[in-house]
Amino acid sequence: MANRRPSVLDSPVPGTMLANRRPSVFDSPSSRRQSGLSSRRPSIDPARLVPMDKAFAISGHEDFNVVFVGAGNIMFGSEEGPWNHSFRFEHKLGPRLKVVALIDPAVERATAVLQKKCDTFVRSAYENTRVFRTLEDFVKNMSRKDTPRAVIVGSPPMFRGTTQPGRDIELQILRHFPGVAMFIEKPVATGPSSEIEEVFKVAKFISESGTVCSIGYMLRYLKAVQMMKQIINDNNLTVMATVARYACAYEAIAKPDWWDKSKSAGPIVEQGTHFCDLSRYFGGEVDMTTVSAHSLEWDENAGHLSKMAVDETAIPPENRIPRVTAATWKYDSGAVGSFTHLVALQGHDYSCELEVYADGYQLKLVNPYVQPVLWIRRPGSDHEESYRFPDDDPFFSEISVLIDNIEDIEEEPETAQILSSFEDACKTYQLTWAIREATERNRKNKRETTVVE
Ligand SMILES: NC(=O)c1ccc[n+]([C@@H]2O[C@H](COP(=O)([O-])OP(=O)(O)OC[C@H]3O[C@@H](n4cnc5c(N)ncnc54)[C@H](O)[C@@H]3O)[C@@H](O)[C@H]2O)c1
Repeated sequence: MANRRPSVLDSPVPGTMLANRRPSVFDSPSSRRQSGLSSRRPSIDPARLVPMDKAFAISGHEDFNVVFVGAGNIMFGSEEGPWNHSFRFEHKLGPRLKVVALIDPAVERATAVLQKKCDTFVRSAYENTRVFRTLEDFVKNMSRKDTPRAVIVGSPPMFRGTTQPGRDIELQILRHFPGVAMFIEKPVATGPSSEIEEVFKVAKFISESGTVCSIGYMLRYLKAVQMMKQIINDNNLTVMATVARYACAYEAIAKPDWWDKSKSAGPIVEQGTHFCDLSRYFGGEVDMTTVSAHSLEWDENAGHLSKMAVDETAIPPENRIPRVTAATWKYDSGAVGSFTHLVALQGHDYSCELEVYADGYQLKLVNPYVQPVLWIRRPGSDHEESYRFPDDDPFFSEISVLIDNIEDIEEEPETAQILSSFEDACKTYQLTWAIREATERNRKNKRETTVVE
């Protein structure tokens, strides 16, 4: 590790950092390294995306200190899906992983998940983990040896993505741990749409600081998605259209907040965001002025759901979520995007598809959450080839790429770039809000017309 880049471990202890700290994002925007080094590959060779059981833990012997923010499902897993960041960190970092702090105001929940870990063979990563209600509390009580190499944020989006105290975890990280990498879950925020500008401000602070930062749009790391990218790049294709459909299994969604727009910002901002993001990944920048959308609402006859797991009458009528949202837009390139989100299926599995069209090509990604299949139709043929990716684990790949970027940012040119930056994720956030607001405008117009009639 002779030529390892200087890490935060080489820097002063946090106590002295305050007086004599390295320049923070607020002082100096310029010279530090950027997360998207130009020499780095902008996409990933699908052959390099290997599942956890075929991947080796990263080499080296030094402890790799990590702080987890949030002790919930995304971080420690649940019945709801395959996500579980701690599990992926354990595999990627092996015995080097040391979770120095777990930040969560729900101290009991945090203590319980740590106890579970300590009962298993990954004990060494968690036996010295301390629980704090806030990052500030950790900073006040930490010693130099606790300095993290990465802060992983899986708290609810209503507590982040702004410059307001208590909802500014990114700025807190930049301030207390300049140069330390971050991973932030999607969406980047869920405040009112009037705060979108603030989210972009946070993005600017992060990018100007040169901090390595990855956002949890893990579908970009699917092998199938990277194969689609490879076909587009290798054949120099121009995308003509993206057609996305996301039908969730609502019966399995038991979190009351998810059904309340005032808490979760609604199913497009909170959940459909994954497919809005993938659409943008292929279609490019969206002309926000072109976004138009319609919804089927809870109080329309066709919007009645018979198997909701929550009592919707407890949610104020104006905060109840739409059952169907259908949107279209133009990309800056001229291509057209469309997206339909449905809260309609029962059972457990979601039904999701994304089609990408270019001259002579149809690339159709089916079932990316459960068992991804890619259907490809090529020029001059009616035949559809199909590819399956049985062992693929995009949650592992996104963590693996993050760690590779932190560990050898300059040394390994084949290391893939982080595929989702904070700034890019802000644009996805903006698109999801534009869709929600377009449906609400149309609903309001319809109401007003009905009243006049
Ligand atoms: N990429 C994916 O597929 C995926 C899947 C699940 C969740 N997520 C995202 O992860 C995030 C968290 O979701 P979840 O399902 O784990 O929620 P959760 O409710 O299970 O857990 C959130 C935890 O954060 C804690 N918390 C609340 N305020 C906090 C604060 N200010 N600081 C630190 N912790 C705080 C809560 O007490 C709770 O323990 C959301 O943004 C969600 O969209 C992404």
